Amino acid sequence: MKKLVIGVTGSIAAVKIPALLTLLRGKLDVTIAMTDSAREFVGPQAFLALTGNPVITTIWEPAYSKPKHIDLADELDALLIAPATANIIGKMANGVADDPVSTLAISVLPNEKPVIVAPAMNTRMWKHPATQHNVETLRSWGIHIVDPAEGDLACGWQGVGRLAEPDAIAEAVLRIVGEGTKRKNAASQPRRK
Ligand SMILES: Cc1cc2nc3c(=O)[nH]c(=O)nc-3n(C[C@H](O)[C@H](O)[C@H](O)COP(=O)(O)O)c2cc1C
Repeated sequence: MKKLVIGVTGSIAAVKIPALLTLLRGKLDVTIAMTDSAREFVGPQAFLALTGNPVITTIWEPAYSKPKHIDLADELDALLIAPATANIIGKMANGVADDPVSTLAISVLPNEKPVIVAPAMNTRMWKHPATQHNVETLRSWGIHIVDPAEGDLACGWQGVGRLAEPDAIAEAVLRIVGEGTKRKNAASQPRRK
């Protein structure tokens, strides 16, 4: 089964990720990496129970001699960041790597393996020129964006910024991972020393 890592960041929309995991069950082997802020919304124990795989909550692994993020980046077939905060999008667009999700994100080259980002944030945060600039930067690198939807936001606003629904994200991930498989068969893979 193909391996998907989902980087979960600090948005209330993190509560939708268990529903996404249900839709992907039996189709992809999922591992969760999460930021400290994400843990304010959903605990790692819930993700452990739902995926059956250890949850990455730190880049520091006292029982692991090699950098875990590099091994994980080697093993995965696709990386999904969902929900993606304005913060993680900014980090990714600027090469910042200072938490488990951003460190993993910079370890995956988008021209080698699919990287998919599903943003979720307040309308003003989404429309901010910094966010729009960062999203365009990610797109220009070949990173797939699952655009946020319009509707009621947890912050009380109405507008664009809601995380796309789990079925829309699952459909995009399965389609992109399928396309990646076809590409992979046509191209050689880099070898690790
Ligand atoms: C209740 C609450 C909800 C939040 N929801 C979002 C959100 O949907 N999108 C977003 O970009 N930031 C949101 N934030 C702000 C982020 O949690 C904050 O920028 C944090 O530093 C993000 O860290 P991370 O990207 O490392 O997870 C929220 C904060 C709070 C307190």
